This record gives sequence, structure tokens and C-alpha cells, in this order.
Amino acid sequence: MADRKVDLILPGDEGMELPLQSPTLGNDVINIQNLSGKGYFTYDPGFVSTASCESTITYIDGAEGVLLYRGYPIEQLAEHSDFAEVSYLLMNGELPNVQQKQEFQDKLNNHTLVHEQMRNFFNGFRRDAHPMAIMCGVVGALSSFYHDSLDVNDPTCRETAAFRLIAKMPTIAAMCYKYSIGLPFMYPQNSMGYAENFLNMMYATPTETTTPNPVLANAMDKIFILHADHEQNASTSTVRLAGSTGANPFACISAGIAALWGPAHGGANEAALNMLMEIGDVSRVGQFIKRAKDKNDPFRLMGFGHRVYKNYDPRAKVMRETCHQVLEEVGLKDDPIFKLALELERIALEDDYFVEKKLYPNVDYYSGITLSAIGIPSAMFTVIFALARTVGWVSHWLEMMSSPELRIGRPRQLYTGSPCRDYIPMKKRT
Ligand code: ACO
Repeated sequence: MADRKVDLILPGDEGMELPLQSPTLGNDVINIQNLSGKGYFTYDPGFVSTASCESTITYIDGAEGVLLYRGYPIEQLAEHSDFAEVSYLLMNGELPNVQQKQEFQDKLNNHTLVHEQMRNFFNGFRRDAHPMAIMCGVVGALSSFYHDSLDVNDPTCRETAAFRLIAKMPTIAAMCYKYSIGLPFMYPQNSMGYAENFLNMMYATPTETTTPNPVLANAMDKIFILHADHEQNASTSTVRLAGSTGANPFACISAGIAALWGPAHGGANEAALNMLMEIGDVSRVGQFIKRAKDKNDPFRLMGFGHRVYKNYDPRAKVMRETCHQVLEEVGLKDDPIFKLALELERIALEDDYFVEKKLYPNVDYYSGITLSAIGIPSAMFTVIFALARTVGWVSHWLEMMSSPELRIGRPRQLYTGSPCRDYIPMKKRT
């Protein structure tokens, strides 16, 4: 219904008609593109009411707790699919047939190694550097190695860069970990699945051949699927904004990694586990709930609340179930931290403050416990999130770069600084 319009009454003007655009799902969108021509901007700190682009990749219904990748519910994908297939879906829009899946896997396998010289990069970092700091640097540095995929105007180059990024992220992530503990880097094994290969690079050593536990590899694969995309979140919007300038894809993904690092975004899984450790015992839950509700205390329940979900995050449901399976497998089904998490969730969901503000557990609430049970140190949690989200970032970047509407992203502002004034020489200043 392209001809629907809304009337906007402007001061001292006869007003203007703004086109009303209908999405396939979700809120109607008022197109304000021509508003600046009338001498007005819109003001929306935090982009709460602003659609920054048109996209066909992911849909979230925050009120109902729905997440769809290319139309498919996340619960179905987590149950029936695997990460390589979900990556194909996000990048191409449809599920692959057998041949398409094999070709996609072969292309990924072709790019799992990183340039040998990149190993030297790691030596420049302190051993105790946060792995996200290393990852930001190393992923940005990919642009200094792969000159043949930097032409952002060439669709073939764009596709090659996309495969390179998705295929190399597990290798780089595992290298960040191995470097931190002083063990040799492991090469990828293309005979293994994506998650299995990652776990192998994390835990195998050149002196011992090990096969990753299939239950843990399966859980890791689910974690990758759940984190693969989440429409125009802060890190994806960062990738799009950086990409809109024509910056190369490796630099753009590095910018996305930086944005993901914050505790309000991807850093929340690490923060949620740290918080549960700090609470330590069910008897202290009340005290921490009280702190979370206190306006004068900056403490928040980490892993709770979401800008878009005002209902249970559908990923958190799958994550809680996966968490159960992993704890059972590693003999930690009576894990006190998991029990504490369940109890904290129960109490918070019955508390008026959390009910009124519609604050529910998000995906990060249970992912930290799960990753920890798999044996992943907490500093690596956000690295794993970045690894999984790379396919989402790349898919959005590909979508944006092939859009005829591509323009540099350049928000405006509500300026509240000083009006124009004359320079005052130093000797005349009081
Ligand atoms: N604990 C206690 N109170 C909370 C929490 C929380 N976790 N989250 C929100 N609130 C309160 C706020 O204090 C605010 O109260 P007020 O209306 O009285 O001022 C109200 O709920 C709304 O919160 P906002 O911060 O305005 O919501 P916003 O959409 O800007 O923030 C965010 C969402 C950043 C996720 C927030 O809920 C939060 O900080 N949660 C904890 C961190 C976290 O888990 N982040 C992971 C997000 S998921 C992801 O990135 C994968």
C-alpha cells in the first residue's frame, strides 16, 4: 500500500504529507526522508523509534517474544538446523538444498586458515590482554592481508570477504585463547563441523589428538545459531554505518566487534556470570534484587532486560534448555550457580518492578553458565558472541552494499551549544 500517507502539521506552514510504508511484519514506518527539505529534523536518542534501513534478514516481535531469521522461527532453526545452514540462510535468504549446502561448506573450508604471518601479530599483545582487544585488532588487520577482497564495489570481492570472515573467525577466536594461556595455535580441521572444529582448536594440542564431545559441540552450534543475527542492534548498526562510507569489510567487522564488547550489549554474558558468582548464594538474592531496583545504585541485573523484547527472549528459552543438557553431560546438574540463576529468575519474574518494566531474562543470562560448563573462560564469552554474530554482520553488510539506496550514514543533531560568538583574545578574557 505505497500510497498511504500521514499528515504532518508544521508551525507556520500548511503541513506536509509523509508516506506511510508497510512492512511484511511489524510497525508501519513513517518515511521522513523529505522532512529536512522543510527545515526540520527528528529527534530520537537511542534510535528507539527510528528504522535506519530496509532489511529482509531478521524480524523481532519484542512484545510477543518472536525472532525470525528470513521468516523461520529461531526455535525451529535451533532444533533442526546447524550453524552452516543458518549462515547460508542469513546470507542468501533461503534454506540450501543438499548441493548448495555442500558448496557453501566447501567455500568456508577453503578459507579457514589465516595467513601464516598473522601468527606474528599475536606476539605484539600482552598475554593478559582481553581477547576482545586482540580480536578487534586482528580482525581489522585482515584488511592488510587480503587485498584481493577489498573492492567493495565488486560483488565477487564482497562474497569472498564474507566467506573469509565467517571461516576465519573460529580460527582467530581460538588463537586469542591459546595465546592467553601460552599454548601453541592449532590449525583448523576441515573434516569437522563448524562448532566441533572451533572446540578442537580451543582444546586440542599438537601432542594429543582429541575429539570434541558431540553434546558440547552441539550446544556450541546452538549458541552460534542463537547469536547469529538480531536485526539492527548496536553492533550491526555500527557495521552498517562504517560500511556506508565504503570502508572495507574487515575494518567494518572490527568496528562491530568493538561495539559488541560493551556490557550493555555482548559483554553482558560475562557480566551476568560474574554477577551470579558475586551473589554466590540464594540467601543473597533479595539483597541484589533490592540493589537492582534502587535508582541511586548503578547495579543492574545483568542478563535481564532488552531494548526490544518486552517478553521472554525466545533465545533465552532455548539457551536455558541447552544449559540443562550441558550441565547434565559434564556432571554438573546440581551446579549451585545454575540453581542460583533459576532462583534469581523466579524471584525477579514475580517482583513488581521487573513485571511492570517488562524485564525478562535475555539470551546472555544462561549463555555464560553454559559456556563456563563447556570449559570456556569468561573473558572468551564475548569473543564467541562475535564469532557467531559475524555472519549476521556480514549478511547486513552484503544487503546494504547491494542496495540501490546506499548512502553514507550521517545522522543530524539537536544542537544545544553556544550560538555563534566572536573570538575573545586571551588578554581580554576574565
Ligand atoms: N536491572 C534493573 N533495572 C533495569 C534493567 C536491569 N537489568 N534493565 C532495565 N532496567 C530498568 C531501567 O533502570 C529503566 O528504569 P526507569 O524506567 O525507572 O528509568 C527501565 O528498566 C528501562 O531501561 P532502559 O535502560 O531505559 O532500557 P534500554 O532499552 O535502554 O536498555 C538494556 C536495555 C541495555 C539491555 C538494559 O535492559 C540493561 O542494561 N540490561 C542489563 C545488561 C544486559 O543484559 N544486556 C544484554 C542485552 S541482550 C544483548 O545484547 C545480546
